[in-house]
Amino acid sequence: MAATQAYIKGIGAYVPPRALTNFDLEEQLDTSDEWIQQRTGIVKRHWVEGDTSTTDLAVEAVKEALEDAELKKEDIDCIIFATLSPDHDFPGNGCWLQAKMDMGGIPAFDIRQQCTGFIYGLSMADAFIRIGQYKNILLIGAEIHSKGLDRTPEGRNVAVLFGDGAGACVISAREPVEGGGIMAHDLFADGNSAKELWLPAPGTALDPEHRITKKMLDDKLQYPVMNGRQVFMNAVKKMSESLTMTLKKQGKTIDDVDMFFFHQANLRINDKVGEILGIPPEKVFNTIQDYGNTTAATIPLGMRDALKAGKLERGMLVGMAAFGSGFTWGSSLLRF
Ligand code: UT7
Repeated sequence: MAATQAYIKGIGAYVPPRALTNFDLEEQLDTSDEWIQQRTGIVKRHWVEGDTSTTDLAVEAVKEALEDAELKKEDIDCIIFATLSPDHDFPGNGCWLQAKMDMGGIPAFDIRQQCTGFIYGLSMADAFIRIGQYKNILLIGAEIHSKGLDRTPEGRNVAVLFGDGAGACVISAREPVEGGGIMAHDLFADGNSAKELWLPAPGTALDPEHRITKKMLDDKLQYPVMNGRQVFMNAVKKMSESLTMTLKKQGKTIDDVDMFFFHQANLRINDKVGEILGIPPEKVFNTIQDYGNTTAATIPLGMRDALKAGKLERGMLVGMAAFGSGFTWGSSLLRF
């Protein structure tokens, strides 16, 4: 057993107050509540208003996570921020959040693993703690998608799917408890599939001189591009495979797990994963109905809601799996 064990000491989450139902999007996006619910399971999502930024959402989630962990911000010694929708291109959101929270001095970095961001971040936090480098790491997943979507009928295949929100966890060190804490991870990426779900601009690969040009904007290259069917098929396959592997590593089976938190991109993806692995539906905590796809925020947001609803309790064995742009995918197993 490692000399130090990492565990989730506190969780917090936040979504902006404005909720938009599918009906609210019907006219602007030439879509329908029926199409969205049947194909995705989404009923509503939260979108920010005004000049709210991604780190503004994160600050609220972090405050709740610190309170839940019964720690002060001074106890935190590292910040890991997972997002694909940062406040600015650089510096990373870890730095902006650190300044807003007045936590200057400690290391802060961003990771860009899209929908798998939280699982990658959890694995990194776990590794830092196991080697004794940090004691209380703030891991955040936060997104504002609404400002980056093509909210015209042309963009409806993507725009209806995404919501804004933030989740945060405090990952802390403790003396190892047998069979406890964060146990195992499985991380993957396949850059050959990058263009199945990507954001072309701004970027250095498109123009000899500029990262952003008027032509790029006219061509709508600032909006995400997705091959929905490819993403769907791969998500089902890779999430199922990865979770199976992570459980096997720890000598556990599906039946040993008390609650599953999957990335929330499509209710049908999660139903299929559950079907393939033989997971009883009541053991999968879905939130897509209320939030849509909130990318890196999804898993901590779901855990916070499950905790509040009494569905997640200390001592439970928790399985997680996610899949997204990159492609990136992975899974984690932990004793909560
Ligand atoms: O976090 C990882 C990121 N994303 C995912 O994991 C998403 C994975 N993919 C999916 O969830 C599904 O592929 C979608 C929900 C995105 C799409 O469902 P689909 O069953 O694959 O639909 P489709 O893209 O094949 O489109 C079917 C039809 C098309 O019309 P025609 O060509 O059959 O006449 C689309 O134009 O649905 C139309 N359509 C819409 N209609 C109303 C596409 N988007 C919409 C919309 N409202 N929002």
